[in-house]
Amino acid sequence: ETHDISVARLTKTLAPTLKKLQRNEELVFGESFTDHMLAVEWHKGQGWLAPEIRPHGPLMLDPSAVVFHYAFECFEGLKAYKDKEGRIRLFRPDMNMKRMNNSAQRIALPHFDGEQYIECIKELLRQEQRWIPSEYGYSLYLRPTMIGTEEALGVRASKSALLYTICSPVGPYYATGFKAISLYANVREVRAWPGGVGNAKLGANYAPTIVPAEQAAQHGCQQVLWLIGEQHELMEVGTMNLFIFWTNREGQRELVTPVLDGTILPGVTRDSILSLARTWGEFEVSERKLYMNELVEAERDGRLHEVFGSGTAAIVSPVKRISYLGQDIHIPLDPANPEGQAGPLTQRFNDTLMGIQYGDIPHEWSVVV
Ligand code: COI
Repeated sequence: ETHDISVARLTKTLAPTLKKLQRNEELVFGESFTDHMLAVEWHKGQGWLAPEIRPHGPLMLDPSAVVFHYAFECFEGLKAYKDKEGRIRLFRPDMNMKRMNNSAQRIALPHFDGEQYIECIKELLRQEQRWIPSEYGYSLYLRPTMIGTEEALGVRASKSALLYTICSPVGPYYATGFKAISLYANVREVRAWPGGVGNAKLGANYAPTIVPAEQAAQHGCQQVLWLIGEQHELMEVGTMNLFIFWTNREGQRELVTPVLDGTILPGVTRDSILSLARTWGEFEVSERKLYMNELVEAERDGRLHEVFGSGTAAIVSPVKRISYLGQDIHIPLDPANPEGQAGPLTQRFNDTLMGIQYGDIPHEWSVVV
């Protein structure tokens, strides 16, 4: 089998006509796509074929392809940024490649060389340069995807796969911009469970979240707060990891996020926030199990300072209210500014991460293409 998906083997077929760029203000998250995509086929016994850049467009798949029946699909999300010098940058793309290989392995899809694939993605980005917005807060969202393509209804590993990446110019994830959100603590459905696939970025983890999200919306909340178990252990918020900043029972200021126990998606932004916080060394940083009664108690005692979600799409998403068993938990935002939409620590993570992503703060995480 061939494992080589290096740029040396990359072929290009370019689109005969190019699309018209949208203005930044018109961008809706994930609704417009660039001219080209990257695709690599895999066949059992043969390995990976040559990667190709080709016009973005429909895939030809037989309706029996396993992706349509048994959810052989995993994906990633990462962004390309343009810095002040006009250079293209990626943020920790190696993390996405590692996670994608973990996700693929969980659903018996083939392993690929992440470093080589990043080089192919870089070539795609050079091709799609004009699509990368240069304005702060805007970027080109990349969606690496792998699907099982074998035409067979037997429930077993797919004998063929397609690894592709599409690109979408994006602005702020929420149409409302950087605004604090309300969460609906869901005590019925669970997003993931011990021994399940919550730590893999599988498409199958997302479709079942829509009905609960619609229920949350009926309660005036923008996202679901995912819980598990009778003690209402906290898991994630919507499609994001969860962070709490409080003064703990011991009286220490502490940043806490659920520990990666197999039910939590190992977010790149999550990891970056933990790493920044540990480098700053200004408060305790913990990864552990968290329960709703701790949150209720912290609010009651005035120890709850900030709550936010973290993810590639929104970076951080400040939370102002959690609806839990018919009661509201209120989280202070910016004590210094009644109009403010984020607590000072949430804001600082946002600004630091954006600074690194756009190349204004030098950091090894930002990779020049
Ligand atoms: C995130 O970046 O928070 C995501 O999970 C992306 C989402 C569009 C699936």
